[in-house]
Amino acid sequence: MTEAELYTVYKGVYMPASIHPPQSLKYFEEFSFRSDDIIIATYPKSGTTWMQEIVPLIMSGGDPASVETLPNWQRVPWLEVGQSQLNLEQRPSPRMLATHCQYNVMSPSFFTAKPKVIYVMRNPKDVFTSSFHHHRMASFLVNPGPQTEFLHKFLDGKVQFGSWFDHVKSWLNAEDKERIMYISYEEMIMDLKDSVARIAQFLDKSLDAEVTEKIAERCLFKNMKQNKMSNYSTVPRELMDQTKSEFLRKGTSGDWKNQLTAPEAEHFDAVYKDKMKDVKYKFVWD
Ligand code: A3P
Repeated sequence: MTEAELYTVYKGVYMPASIHPPQSLKYFEEFSFRSDDIIIATYPKSGTTWMQEIVPLIMSGGDPASVETLPNWQRVPWLEVGQSQLNLEQRPSPRMLATHCQYNVMSPSFFTAKPKVIYVMRNPKDVFTSSFHHHRMASFLVNPGPQTEFLHKFLDGKVQFGSWFDHVKSWLNAEDKERIMYISYEEMIMDLKDSVARIAQFLDKSLDAEVTEKIAERCLFKNMKQNKMSNYSTVPRELMDQTKSEFLRKGTSGDWKNQLTAPEAEHFDAVYKDKMKDVKYKFVWD
């Protein structure tokens, strides 16, 4: 099916219509934040599911009950999916919430309540690679077609949640940066224990070294992949066909080298250089 058949355009970006019907978008627009909410914000395929494992474990002081019993989309729900049956209004603080939306489309109360945000970024060439495989297995996304064609769509932002460049810039240019923790997928790959410790510190949660270590161990790719509440194995095959590509697919950095041809990588770099020329942030992959 085509973009026109599968997607809706919300504030200028594509969103899969079956997951984000009008009532979900209304829920998102009207959502009332609390100042002690914790928001995980990401461009898709940047490490959302990973963070949906790490943050609940930090907040529970290492108790795995919630990550063992609740699927990731219930323990840290995406606001734009609008799962009103979860009754988030009644959830005790601190609530853990997720979004793939850009900074500028957050609901009005986000800007007044000022909850903490963890914004996870990933090398866009790996985001592209992960996304390409994800589009092969998810029936609510367009079939990616030939790789070069999908690459152009990705670089033009003609994909779900729009342009990676716009997304990252929107969050990096946020007005109130002191409440946002910027962390990259690559830092988490390089030193997960240190990343867990830094996230805990940002969330004002003091953890023993032993608990930090245990959380990091649990969140290693090979271990998280076994967690049925995080590996999407409970999702029907008609929605996600993991025989085509697993959701927790490779879990590495630099897989783009196995995916992009030399001319594709060169083109990617040229577009990146142009679109990111005014960005001062020092990314680990630069
Ligand atoms: P790959 O497709 O490159 O393997 P999101 O959750 O934002 O959709 O991102 C999915 C990507 O994060 C996938 O990347 C997935 O394998 C990876 N991922 C999920 N959990 C991970 C973990 N514990 N360690 C490393 N990568 C992880």
